[in-house]
Amino acid sequence: MPYDLLHRPRRLRENPILRDMLAENKITIKDLVFPIFVSDSITQPEAIQSMPGIFRWPLNTLSEQVKKWVDLGLKSFAIFPCISDCKKSEKGDEILNANSIIYQAADKIKSACGEIFLISDIALDPYTTHGHDGILDNHGKVLNDETVEVLAKASVMAAESGYDFVAPSDMMDGRVIAIRNSLDNAQYIHTGIMAYSAKFCSAYYGPFRDAIGTTQSKPIDKSSYQLNPSNTREAVRELLLDMQEGADILMVKPAEPYLDIIALARQECELPIAAYQVSGEYSRIWAAASQGWLDLDACAFESLLSIKRAGANIIISYFAERIAKSI
Ligand code: PBG
Repeated sequence: MPYDLLHRPRRLRENPILRDMLAENKITIKDLVFPIFVSDSITQPEAIQSMPGIFRWPLNTLSEQVKKWVDLGLKSFAIFPCISDCKKSEKGDEILNANSIIYQAADKIKSACGEIFLISDIALDPYTTHGHDGILDNHGKVLNDETVEVLAKASVMAAESGYDFVAPSDMMDGRVIAIRNSLDNAQYIHTGIMAYSAKFCSAYYGPFRDAIGTTQSKPIDKSSYQLNPSNTREAVRELLLDMQEGADILMVKPAEPYLDIIALARQECELPIAAYQVSGEYSRIWAAASQGWLDLDACAFESLLSIKRAGANIIISYFAERIAKSI
């Protein structure tokens, strides 16, 4: 005799067609932004050791490559520069050189590829000898307002070179309003700001620092500007401040270790929420998969799904190319 059960939720999970129809969240390539590293010192793509499957690209092959990604269905890209050591300085002046690789990259990609959405990273760390996201005073402290001034200028240069959005990843106070004002004064009223609003001082950025060549002999401590991983209320405060300052999209970063923050951001703010699945989140899945301990594609999907389920509208992920090839 079957049990006298009124509720049998498994009935909805029996048939694969129904199961698929009832999926509350789905990952599509339209959800994803693919980060791209462009280097000013190479002529051939260069594999990044700590990020399997991810390369640094030279300017001469970049637009050909982006076209291939566009053909796969990827339409949104976030560009990060790798600056050769000889162009780095204490203050990161290379960020204000109109011929610097990040500006040239936009120009090349935009003229070669059709409808795409291009986001420029805005931060000083690729350009400084010390790898901090700001200008330092004589005691090694990161100066806020002096840094913001440079970021605001760099944002206008990014807009000029063709970027659709700028994404300040520095966590200085007041940079969103300063960037908004500079863009508006230069008539770039349609250039948007995707603010790294709740960016935590995370240990998961390691492979990225290898990728852009900012790894230092002594581990770099960004805790005077990035958020303490233990703090929720402070993250909400940062999100709300960026919203008030005129951000168009708010970001939470890293993603999977901070799903609670993504969910809270979704609940507290009306703006679209982006989540950045950072380099270490990518590489840890790869590392386990390369040992045969995890299934790479299944875990990649599951991780992205968890980020979407938490409430992210946009996901920046190094898995984007792989996902595009498999769906
Ligand atoms: C710095 C920046 C970082 C990332 C994006 N922009 C690292 C850091 O704060 O040191 C990390 C991205 C990743 O790990 O994939 N401006």
